[in-house]
Amino acid sequence: MALAYFNGKIVGMDDPVIPIDERGHQFGDGVYEVIRFYQSKPFMMKEHLDRLYASAKAIKLEIGKDQAELEELMLELAAKSGLEDADLYMQATRGVAPRNHLFPKCPASISMTVKPARHLPAEVRSQGVKVVLLKDERWQNCYIKSLNLLPNILAKQEAFEQNCFEAVLVRDGFITEGSSTNTFIVKEGKIQTAPLSNHILAGITRLAVKEIAGELHLPFVEKSFTAEELYAADEVFLSSTSSEVLAITSADGRKIGGGRPGAVTKKLYENFQLKTK
Ligand SMILES: Cc1ncc(COP(=O)(O)O)c(C=O)c1O
Repeated sequence: MALAYFNGKIVGMDDPVIPIDERGHQFGDGVYEVIRFYQSKPFMMKEHLDRLYASAKAIKLEIGKDQAELEELMLELAAKSGLEDADLYMQATRGVAPRNHLFPKCPASISMTVKPARHLPAEVRSQGVKVVLLKDERWQNCYIKSLNLLPNILAKQEAFEQNCFEAVLVRDGFITEGSSTNTFIVKEGKIQTAPLSNHILAGITRLAVKEIAGELHLPFVEKSFTAEELYAADEVFLSSTSSEVLAITSADGRKIGGGRPGAVTKKLYENFQLKTK
């Protein structure tokens, strides 16, 4: 059963619990994580928690619990839900205080939901997805997993309206990442993705892909690439907690790799599945 949590209480998904002066609600003043549970076990929990605390530090937010306490809370909520394959969404905000841009003196709010994991239809996985390249209109601190997702949402919606699964973003002539995914190209067997910087989110699935590439002795390069390099790649794929590793078979209406998922992408996906067991 899907369950929710807000500031110490387990509540139903539709219960009205957020006070009107909650800063996440009014300012997007907070950070978040999405963690996948496979067979009741969280995937790369430590990495998610490390990233959450790094994001919180970057916005000067005191979560008010240490990593071990927060982890326990997450595990407890997931266990109570009884869901084995689940998506846990967690956000921490600067709390509840009369609306004022300055930081309030109040404890952080913590909210969470646990829901059945979303699965992509089998034909989407086997055929791959289309993407559209759009200008990266986000701010300069995309390494922070901030609640402020308006440019991401607008890009994703634009992609959807163009019959695409994802928007791949371009900043100063180079691909950064997708609206909620990291982007990779494969050329002559070499896997390439944008280097970590303030212009991309350090995806946990991206890290898993890097580890798998290492285990399989596949060349893995963290180096920026252009739209032209993406169009000319043998394979393109994306990664994220919810999409895992997913082939991109068309970009801006141009077929990639003959329009079918490539061998390297398939191998990475299969090995990713093994990691989740
Ligand atoms: C902008 C952005 N890039 C990349 C990712 C992928 O990160 P992860 O693999 O940790 O889910 C996300 C996930 O939400 C994201 O929002």
